[in-house]
Amino acid sequence: MPFSEFYQDLISDLKNDDSRLKIWGEQLEAQLAEVLVDQTHGDMQAWSEAFKQLPNIENINANINQDTLSFESALVSDGQSQALLSALQSLKPWRKGPFDFFGHHIETEWHSDWKWQRISPHISDLKNRKVLDVGCGSGYHMWRMLAQGASRVIGVDPSKLFFWQFEAVKKYLKAARNENVPAHFLPFKMEDVPPNLRVFDTVFSMGVLYHRRSPIEHLAELYNALRAGGEVVLETLVVEGELGQVLMPEDRYAMMRNVWFLPTVDTLSLWMRRVGFKDVKVVEQNYTSIEEQRTTDWMEYNSLKDFLDPNDHTKTAEGYPAPLRATLIART
Ligand SMILES: C[S@@+](CC[C@H](N)C(=O)[O-])C[C@H]1O[C@@H](n2cnc3c(N)ncnc32)[C@H](O)[C@@H]1O
Repeated sequence: MPFSEFYQDLISDLKNDDSRLKIWGEQLEAQLAEVLVDQTHGDMQAWSEAFKQLPNIENINANINQDTLSFESALVSDGQSQALLSALQSLKPWRKGPFDFFGHHIETEWHSDWKWQRISPHISDLKNRKVLDVGCGSGYHMWRMLAQGASRVIGVDPSKLFFWQFEAVKKYLKAARNENVPAHFLPFKMEDVPPNLRVFDTVFSMGVLYHRRSPIEHLAELYNALRAGGEVVLETLVVEGELGQVLMPEDRYAMMRNVWFLPTVDTLSLWMRRVGFKDVKVVEQNYTSIEEQRTTDWMEYNSLKDFLDPNDHTKTAEGYPAPLRATLIART
């Protein structure tokens, strides 16, 4: 299946949009061709083969408005079930979920549903909103956003494996609905999205800010992607402490190599105000538990328990404060 087929409806909708999305629609095809046809990524071929092995199933009942996103059908043969299991296993590791594909339950590394339970009560109604999910992972939260009535959800994330996991879910949702599904995963970084689109009603950035060398630039990108009066939902690692304090790890943080800045919530609120956000509110804070992020049959590598001090789970393996996440909501 040529990659353009994943995006035909998006590209034609964007080209016909009367906002600045039109400009993006005109560039997108070339941009996608560049990233998706990149042959230097060794696993791309295997993942695309796995996707092709996903059986076509009829009479699907999809439920994306619950914690485990699930697909059911009475018409799955044993052969199809085996082919499905094998394809899903070829798309391991599954980090963000959970999902259930016709009885194959995918217990992901992260209970992404718990994050959604904490955050969703605080956000503006997503009904008929255009949403951008920056660093969308496998797209788990995008499906929850769509289920809440968003008119379009665009996710950007450079992970190619997450792209295939997203497309596996989308394949069965499209089949269940028998129509195009207005959710799209763009396999590139936020830095590659045209600047100053100023069109999205809600922009999510969850678990991304600490990966950015330049967090203020990231906040400005989010601000400039939003329409006037739009809402940002920012979730990131923070540390306890006062206004002005920020932790910059010497090297790794909880074994992650690419962690740059962990501000206090007061510092982060100031950063947000300085790029122009109004009504900045801290809506929740949560220490990540080893029940929320853990090794499973579908993600067999080390996980949070192995990244903490074995004798003191209030510290990371490097001796920093254990992962504390905060969500801040603000508007342009
Ligand atoms: C910790 S995961 C969070 C996934 C999901 N948003 C969640 O909250 O469960 C961070 C994701 O951000 C992506 N990411 C990292 N840098 C990014 C960038 N510059 N632009 C877009 N996504 C990025 C990574 O590939 C990864 O999937």
